[in-house]
Amino acid sequence: MPSYSRISGTGSALPGHKVSNDELAADLATRGIDTSDAWIVSRTGIRFRHFADPGTTSVDLGEQAARRALDAAGLQAQDIGLIIVATSTPDMIFPSNAALIQGRLGVAGAAAFDVQAVCAGFVYALAVADQFVRSGMAQHALVIGAEVFSHILDFNDRTTCVLFGDGAGAVVLSASDTPGMLAAALHADGRQADILCTPGRVSGGEIAGSPFLKMDGQAVFKQAVHVLEDVAREALAKAQRTPEDVDWMVPHQANIRIMTHTAKKLGIPVEKVVVTVDQHGNTSAASIPLALDSAVRSGQIRRGDTLLFEAVGGGLTWGAAVVDY
Ligand code: UT7
Repeated sequence: MPSYSRISGTGSALPGHKVSNDELAADLATRGIDTSDAWIVSRTGIRFRHFADPGTTSVDLGEQAARRALDAAGLQAQDIGLIIVATSTPDMIFPSNAALIQGRLGVAGAAAFDVQAVCAGFVYALAVADQFVRSGMAQHALVIGAEVFSHILDFNDRTTCVLFGDGAGAVVLSASDTPGMLAAALHADGRQADILCTPGRVSGGEIAGSPFLKMDGQAVFKQAVHVLEDVAREALAKAQRTPEDVDWMVPHQANIRIMTHTAKKLGIPVEKVVVTVDQHGNTSAASIPLALDSAVRSGQIRRGDTLLFEAVGGGLTWGAAVVDY
């Protein structure tokens, strides 16, 4: 039985429509909504985000990211024994995005299901896949984060619509004799569900409740700076590593202020934080694998580096993972 799981390939996908803060602000102005590049950059670090057109879905983006991760791992779709997709913007109520992507890849047989932990979804999915691989239930697992948050944004609400973008990232996690995934820590506090949610549901052929994302940004911010340091320390301790051992921190890309604050509290130099929030905005469950793939492909992250993933999102859910890449 394999002792470990290891990331054997990464991939990502972004929809073609890249929108600057100025373009978004000009568009919002036509609706009477006042915002600016200066406000968005100073409060969040976001400069651009990619928006999918209405016909492009999280399955479309997830499939592209998955194919690129398979190529990078040197594997075929039929080699995969497990597909997990982290998403809060699936194509359908059911079947899962994982099943739909499996169908697109033209294979059958592997287990396939979605994980719903919002922005912490990728860390949750990675931790689940690691258990499957280490126990011998799957030799290779595809772990995908794929989102089209633009489809659930209220473009009349400037406190949320400037923050999010669309995209997908994927990793292949493979059985290995040498350590890769070292430890993970996952948590949730369902008592805080209402500070970040999309409360709508389908009932009797109609949408009951709002289908738009709503967030109490300040409440989430306060929770984020509190829980992220703790969960990162917990995962590092489980991995028997210290913040000094971290070569690259790959955080959920929601807000540059949260990312750098957490790094500083941990004593990790900000130069070791992978930053893509400026280019992608907040892509929820896709943000960590998107940042990871861009840092791998740019040569920032190299084989042997120790990585720290951390994320917090709706639920509240939060988690961290320590990985030898
Ligand atoms: O991915 C899941 C996890 N999510 C997060 O981690 C998000 C956490 N929260 C945040 O990142 C921040 O709270 C925000 C970026 C959402 C907001 O930043 P903030 O510094 O907490 O701003 P604020 O909500 O305190 O708003 C400050 C001011 C307000 O005006 P007044 O009341 O001071 O006059 C807002 O109305 O900024 C105003 N404002 C805006 N102004 C221009 C809010 N949104 C905008 C906007 N453009 N888009």
